[in-house]
Amino acid sequence: MLFDIRPKTQLKDLFDREKEIDELRQSLELGEPLVIIYGMRRVGKTSLLRACLNEFGYPYVLIDVREIFEEHGYVTRSHLYEQMARFFTSNLEFFEKLGFRIKDLLKRAKAFQVSGIGIEVNPSVNVDVTSIFRIFNDWARGHNTRFVVAFDEAQYLRFSGATRYDGIFAWSYDNLENLTIIVTGSEVGVLRDFLKLDNPKAPLYGRYVREILLGKFTPEQSREFLKEGFNELGTNIPDHEIDEVVDKLDGIPGWLTLYGYYHGVQKLDHRRALEKVFETGSKLIMEELEKIIAPSRQRYLAILEAIIHGATRWTQIKTYVEYRTRTRIADKNFTDLLKKLVKYGVIEKQEDQYKITDPLIVHAIKAIVS
Ligand SMILES: Nc1ncnc2c1ncn2[C@@H]1O[C@H](COP(=O)(O)OP(=O)(O)OP(=O)(O)O)[C@@H](O)[C@H]1O
Ligand SMILES: [Mg+2]
Repeated sequence: MLFDIRPKTQLKDLFDREKEIDELRQSLELGEPLVIIYGMRRVGKTSLLRACLNEFGYPYVLIDVREIFEEHGYVTRSHLYEQMARFFTSNLEFFEKLGFRIKDLLKRAKAFQVSGIGIEVNPSVNVDVTSIFRIFNDWARGHNTRFVVAFDEAQYLRFSGATRYDGIFAWSYDNLENLTIIVTGSEVGVLRDFLKLDNPKAPLYGRYVREILLGKFTPEQSREFLKEGFNELGTNIPDHEIDEVVDKLDGIPGWLTLYGYYHGVQKLDHRRALEKVFETGSKLIMEELEKIIAPSRQRYLAILEAIIHGATRWTQIKTYVEYRTRTRIADKNFTDLLKKLVKYGVIEKQEDQYKITDPLIVHAIKAIVS
């Protein structure tokens, strides 16, 4: 069902991502070592990843790094292994269907204990991530396939203390021919910084990496998505309501899905459904945004307010922020503030003009500063 609010797990439920699906499929068929899927919040990264990996037929493990970070505040190796163990336990059938005896594989990886009920982390063994990757790789080679290790929201791997994942990924890139690492990230600039793709002194610099950018739906795609979703539910909604939703939610698949869910599944009326999207969605967005702006909250809020009031260029925004906060800001400091918002995907810069990426951020900021 298109209006299912969880990440999709089947390709048939994934609306209009053929190009990205093909790219991912091709990348695995070609045996590429590293794939990055970028895209703003709620655009459908997890859905693309899960649906493809569930159906492509490669053995894989998927780790939700954001979940680990949110639960623990940092990301240790044991946290990763725990997630892997949980993933394997709940996907035993998947591996069986593919004809892979995953328990045999895990018996070799001493970090895991295989029991009658499932797979657990072996607490007494201290194993490097690289050794685990090597076991996955060797096993895949023996089975004439690829093993995929996917890190959803990989930028949170930067909170893993001394373990340097950019180095591990580069090592795997060079040494493990049957392993593909896929990472996703909604904070595009943060993920690039973390992987140090643009740093000549860093391990991954200069290597070919497959980069897939998931964009918003166009107004036409959004309209089709809504129509198809309501069709599935056996309902129709009037064109002017569809037009309003398309206009207000700016092609962000997650918000369109949420609207469809409230209106089509929960049967709230059009107006209430749209309001609820703004209420729940902006709450979700603000939880993260508050952390990003915390170091200089007043200034960041003033920047966002300036953009909402129609300032789009560096100078206009700066003038507004200095007026609003009654302080002068050095040019470089101001540029750094803007850059950070771009890096985290809060605003985007197009031809020297700044724009807020998500109408729900606009909504949330209006509520704070009014
Ligand atoms: N192409 C699509 N077809 C159908 N539903 C989609 C599509 N893309 C996203 N969705 C829906 O939108 C919501 C957000 O999708 P998903 O969780 O995959 O996005 P995300 O980019 O991983 O979000 P986040 O940044 O919050 O992790 C989910 O309800 C999902 O079902
Ligand atoms: Mg996600």
